[in-house]
Amino acid sequence: MRSKNFNQLKHLIYFSKPTVFDTKNIESILTTSRKNNNETDVTGALICRSDLYFQFLEGPKDSVEATFQKIKLDTRHSEIYKIKDDLTNRRLFASWAMRDDPVHTWMWTREEVKNGILTRIAPNEAFATFERLSREVDQFTP
Ligand SMILES: Cc1cc2nc3c(=O)[nH]c(=O)nc-3n(C[C@H](O)[C@H](O)[C@H](O)COP(=O)(O)O)c2cc1C
Repeated sequence: MRSKNFNQLKHLIYFSKPTVFDTKNIESILTTSRKNNNETDVTGALICRSDLYFQFLEGPKDSVEATFQKIKLDTRHSEIYKIKDDLTNRRLFASWAMRDDPVHTWMWTREEVKNGILTRIAPNEAFATFERLSREVDQFTP
């Protein structure tokens, strides 16, 4: 039987605006993320483009919260806007300490992002985006 203190699984979605966007920066973010997330049992995906970071974090509630606290302090992005923050019972990206993806064609144009589409997106719609991404990932993973 699970103890009352069982650390529940949580997922969190936010988007933000990169302040500096180049390969060196992304690589450094991903290297740190993968190292830390492996240690804290966090998984997820980071969708990036020069005008957007759109991230899905999932894992033990305490780990996800602590990770997001650090992320919020990072000066490599700004205008951090949390869209969804919920307990869950399953992971979408179980084998990815932090998957990185470009913005796919079925997502949003630069114009839409500029006009604030993501400030109006429903939490379930944001989740559906990552769910679709995770299904596509599964399909192409040998
Ligand atoms: C868009 C973005 C996404 C990030 N994602 C993660 C992440 O998933 N996990 C993580 O540990 N750090 C992430 N970071 C880095 C953190 O902000 C912070 O620099 C890092 O956690 C500090 O690690 P340290 O405590 O080991 O020095 C991200 C930063 C940015 C800008």
